[in-house]
Amino acid sequence: MRLLLHVPKAPDEWRDAFVRALPGTEVRAWAPGPAWQADYAAFWHPPRELLDGQARLKAAFNLAAGVDATLKSLALPPGVPLVRLEDAGMGKQMEEYVAWAVLRYFRRLDDYARQQARAEWRVHRPPRHDEFPTGVMGLGVLGLRLAAMLRALGFPVLGWSASRKVLDGVCTFAGAGELDAFLRATRALVCMLPLTPDTAGLLNRATLGRLPPGAYVINVARGGIVVDDDLLALLDSGHLAGATLDAFHAEPLPAAHRFWSHPKVFLTPHCSALTLVEDSVAQVAGKIRAFERGEAVTGVVDRARGY
Ligand code: GLV
Repeated sequence: MRLLLHVPKAPDEWRDAFVRALPGTEVRAWAPGPAWQADYAAFWHPPRELLDGQARLKAAFNLAAGVDATLKSLALPPGVPLVRLEDAGMGKQMEEYVAWAVLRYFRRLDDYARQQARAEWRVHRPPRHDEFPTGVMGLGVLGLRLAAMLRALGFPVLGWSASRKVLDGVCTFAGAGELDAFLRATRALVCMLPLTPDTAGLLNRATLGRLPPGAYVINVARGGIVVDDDLLALLDSGHLAGATLDAFHAEPLPAAHRFWSHPKVFLTPHCSALTLVEDSVAQVAGKIRAFERGEAVTGVVDRARGY
């Protein structure tokens, strides 16, 4: 069996992990030129021509959860399933990051940090979970984990997704028609949506303006879902109390961007959930073995839907 590999970072680590996970498989890094005929391909940030000339490819594996960059850049041979990572060690990291961000706002640790800068000793009244409904946008593998985690922390949890999901203990909303009701009832908004033509710019002045005054925005998905100037305007006007951002339109975030220095923005360099080599390779190898047995796998991307 042959596996074509293209990863911009740590290629040797990925290759060695695939060789260990799939004994007997020839793993080769992609290079421009005539196609080396492979059975499977695994990649991140693929060049457009990565799969050109591949005649017998059985499946293509996106070594990330989000496929927006791949669908934009890669010429995917027709009929070849594109499979994305599902959790693969990202879920736990996401839970930690979002738990931290929500608790930081809920327990007013951002306010206490500002007080510390002024040497101000002042205790705010105890926070109440029932006054702090959290809302998760995007109820895929990661979004579901976040909803369950927030519930376990004692918060009321709302969920919004494009198609209807029924979840124990979570008040769910679906589609454009129910977005306003979801936003109006959400105090801490957690964005875990895929970036698609339908979600690009979805969090804008109108939608974010429907969050109640003093709401918070946590974006751990893709920068393109948020209209930056609209978010900044709502933070400046005081309608929104804070934003924690891990994903941006352009990455690295340009040094001149206002997010860097905005007092109500806390940002991180797209590290809320890093791709873990061993976990990801174990998952992809398991799915390759399933393909070889003729079994169906989960995580196949619906190209029309964009995720
Ligand atoms: C990270 O952003 C991913 O899509 O896995």
